[in-house]
Amino acid sequence: MREAARMTAVQTPIIPVVAEWIRSCPGTISLGQGVVSYGPPPSALAKIAEFLKDPENNKYKPVVGLPQLHQAIAEKLAAENGIKLNDENALVVTAGGNMGFMNTILAITDPGDEVVLQTPYYFNHEMAVTMASCRPVLVATDEEYQLRPKAIADAITPRTRAVVTISPNNPTGAVYSETALREVNRLCRQRGVYHIHDEAYENFVYGSAKHFSPASVDGSAAHTISLFSLSKAYGFASWRVGYMVVPQGLLTAVKKIQDTIVICAPVISQFAAIGALETGSHYCREKLREIVEVREVVLNALKRISHLCTVPRADGAFYFLLRLHKDLDPMTLTERLIREHGVAIIPGTAFGITESCYLRVAYGALQKETATEGIGRLVRGLEALAR
Ligand SMILES: Cc1ncc(COP(=O)(O)O)c(C=O)c1O
Repeated sequence: MREAARMTAVQTPIIPVVAEWIRSCPGTISLGQGVVSYGPPPSALAKIAEFLKDPENNKYKPVVGLPQLHQAIAEKLAAENGIKLNDENALVVTAGGNMGFMNTILAITDPGDEVVLQTPYYFNHEMAVTMASCRPVLVATDEEYQLRPKAIADAITPRTRAVVTISPNNPTGAVYSETALREVNRLCRQRGVYHIHDEAYENFVYGSAKHFSPASVDGSAAHTISLFSLSKAYGFASWRVGYMVVPQGLLTAVKKIQDTIVICAPVISQFAAIGALETGSHYCREKLREIVEVREVVLNALKRISHLCTVPRADGAFYFLLRLHKDLDPMTLTERLIREHGVAIIPGTAFGITESCYLRVAYGALQKETATEGIGRLVRGLEALAR
């Protein structure tokens, strides 16, 4: 017996490999993990008691999510994203942003269709497209990891079903401008393809950078799919709650998919999400102060090795994607950084970059002292291994 060829075609994630190396080297500081250090706000945890009070809550609940959570999300979307819910679009609560993406791909593609991804890509997006027997069409971003709308336009064929953008971006930390996102959204409308926009890091922008939601553009409702997550902003990664705004015409398909896969996002977590949204995004903004300090520490340390690597501008998320000047094998370098220098990063190969050596540094999960020690080890490690 064998597994499906469809699954054999799906890349094996690199993160578990790196995690195994870390486990075998106790004391390693991880600049690898794409998570925040904090957990949900007290208002989220307070909702658990409310959930437990009513035995009815142990039963299945609506596929699209609890009405009370819909209400809270609708208010947040209007206030923070400029997205109005009306009869042209629909809101679906998902078990996280990844589920929103898989729902989308299954809802809009047939086997053999094409989906345009920007490189470096978020690996689970590439995996989902391949898993659905579709072809990821890769379009390289520019030197600063920004969108290249002309190249995206050239990549669209009669088989293209969607263009995917992520801002703020994983793995690059790039924040796309309103102008660029409007251009891609307009292009998608003109060419009759969906614009899937992943906003998992919407709250993580620094300096003068601004987050922009393409679904706020007039006339975008019929072709724009927006994906959101509580994982990062509210420390909700294991609770599995996200949400998606989809064109009304896709709602029936998305409901069929979600009903088949999870029925509904965990109801206890949906209660917690209602509590989290009561506190609101100022929770994340406060946490951001510490992340900003850690970011400064990381940036200053990286300046010391500007002769070894380039660090393109990254005004969002909690990542820097370093481009090494020396052509080393990224997997070997990663293993040696862990084994010989006690610091872990994620090699660029995880994000579909095959030429040159790239390394992703994540700084969202670390306290300032650990970050200082970790980035110090990385600097020393690269000075020893990449000179
Ligand atoms: C761009 C992007 N989208 C989605 C996700 C997954 O989020 P969730 O935990 O909501 O599934 C991640 C997680 O790292 C991400 O980086």
